[in-house]
Amino acid sequence: MVRPSVLITRRWPEAVEQQLAQNYDVMLNRSDRPLTPDEFRDAIKRYDAVLPTVTDKIGPEALDVAKPQTKILANYGVGYTHIDVERAKTHGIAITNTPDVLSECTADLAMTLMLMVARRAGDGERELRAGNWSGWRPTHLVGTKVSGKTLGIVGFGRIGQEMARRAHFGFGMRIIVFNRSPVPSGTLAQFNAVQVDTIEDLLPQADFVSLHCPGGAANAKMINAARLDLMNDDAFLINTARGEVVDEAALAQALMFDTIGGAALDVFEREPAVNPMLAQCDNLVMLPHLGSATREARQAMGFRVLDNLNDFFDGKAPRDRVA
Ligand code: DGY
Repeated sequence: MVRPSVLITRRWPEAVEQQLAQNYDVMLNRSDRPLTPDEFRDAIKRYDAVLPTVTDKIGPEALDVAKPQTKILANYGVGYTHIDVERAKTHGIAITNTPDVLSECTADLAMTLMLMVARRAGDGERELRAGNWSGWRPTHLVGTKVSGKTLGIVGFGRIGQEMARRAHFGFGMRIIVFNRSPVPSGTLAQFNAVQVDTIEDLLPQADFVSLHCPGGAANAKMINAARLDLMNDDAFLINTARGEVVDEAALAQALMFDTIGGAALDVFEREPAVNPMLAQCDNLVMLPHLGSATREARQAMGFRVLDNLNDFFDGKAPRDRVA
């Protein structure tokens, strides 16, 4: 029996690559270099399945193919706004993602960022490594207490709820939530959380605002200058969602003029490029898109793709089909 041909667009955890190679006729990207739109177009003409990830822009150009061979784009990652879903649908190409398995690790990283920015951990580490620490003193690198404060969560899906769990049960924080659709009262009750109707209601009430909504055109620049103005001048913004959700120029402005207390970003508008204005802001912590970067999560994401692929080629409905 001919095995389906599968292209994996980046290096994946070894155990997953090996398992995929046992089930399928697999092409690995040993150099780990992101593919160009032309290379994607070729891939969509040749492979039964393409397994992309967040760094792969599969837009109209890549999908401009008369007769695609590809029947499924089995994405490695939960976000799939890098794929032109409507164009893929016109070709009848299925799309799957990998929810659940990275929620805890992404929420752990959002907590890391929240604590780092509030407690000035980035400043402290930079000072120490530069050999500039002159010793303990009562006024040295004084930050903001996290425990007991109010956390505003934008987007109350799986990752937002894991964030609420950590903040509420670990740090005694009061949780307020903005979500497009109503959150079931039982879910809110788990964290003693309150849902507000608009972001405008949430921002002035929060000491920390953590973003956990999807990216894409619908949420582009959701946090803009006007909304940053609604935050308190000692409040912090944390973004582990998608770079495009925050207007980076407006954020840099708010940080430079101290109209907010600080920010912590794991994602950027034009990754891997970082807006040079942001790099000048000391009240900002930045990490290079590490949300799901644990051995456990990255392996589980790969095996989740494999499950989706196996179901698809066995003629069953993949559990994570999003289109
Ligand atoms: C995702 O899954 O969408 C992340 O950004 C990568 O973990």
